[in-house]
Amino acid sequence: MNPTNYWSAMADAGENLKGVPREILPGVQVYANPTEVARAGARLFVDYAWQSISKYGQFMVALSGGNTPRLLFQFLASAEFRGQVDWAKVHVFWSDERAVPPDDAESNYGMARRELLIRVPIPQANVHRMEAEKANIGRAAHEYEEVLRKYLECDDRGFPRFHLIFLGMGVDGHTASLFPGTRVTRQTSRWVSTPMVGKLNAHRMTLTLPVLDAALRVVFLVVGAEKAEILRAVLEGKADPPYPAQQVQPCDGGLKLFLVDEAAAALIPSIIPQDASSSRGKSTGTIRPKPERSK
Ligand code: 6PG
Repeated sequence: MNPTNYWSAMADAGENLKGVPREILPGVQVYANPTEVARAGARLFVDYAWQSISKYGQFMVALSGGNTPRLLFQFLASAEFRGQVDWAKVHVFWSDERAVPPDDAESNYGMARRELLIRVPIPQANVHRMEAEKANIGRAAHEYEEVLRKYLECDDRGFPRFHLIFLGMGVDGHTASLFPGTRVTRQTSRWVSTPMVGKLNAHRMTLTLPVLDAALRVVFLVVGAEKAEILRAVLEGKADPPYPAQQVQPCDGGLKLFLVDEAAAALIPSIIPQDASSSRGKSTGTIRPKPERSK
């Protein structure tokens, strides 16, 4: 049964609609609250894991950092979801990491380990963390590129192809550790980079844009009223230079999907052309074309 019929059947049956998304623009699904966004993210993880394992024999997924994915990890570790994944065939990577030890409160790996990895039967050998705490972070980035080279197939352009990459977005439009105005956003050949982020006065390790664009699927989780302005700007796509989250454009038919909550979506209607808005709110709009990346 196709999703729309399913949801309206659910609605007719008086089912609770909290988990029902409304697609306000193509690739932008709006859920009632952060919990429903996280549950939807967990459902996609399960679906894509099944699809990838049946097609490729394994599932290559990169997790995002920050706070937003915590609920997603908790859902995946829950009785509702953990039994639906063949964890022995899942390989976990990260889209970025802070230059801190794995047991540091700021560690993206550390958070995922506490909330998910120690609660599901994933082999330790399938967990590929970024060792961004190493003194020579540049060499650690090369080592991580070797790990990607060992486990991932490459696309026609020679970039490693993840089956799924989860991303978040900061209020400044950064994603992974690709911050606005930093040279790394113009990186066209490296797979993994180690930008010095001035405003954090710290290094980060991050997958680069070509690797994000090579993914089969990129799913952004964006929640909270504080993200409403930047989400509107990223989806409107007029910013020049474009925000890093706007620059992510999976190629070769790759999917770019935003799972957002009502609070983060509050300003989106303002970018939907009036004549379209009468039918919108129900579904689909336009996402702007790919901004040119300077050679
Ligand atoms: C990180 C992230 C980063 C994050 C955004 C949003 O290491 O910080 O990967 O890109 O996704 O900063 O963070 P929140 O989810 O905490 O708002």
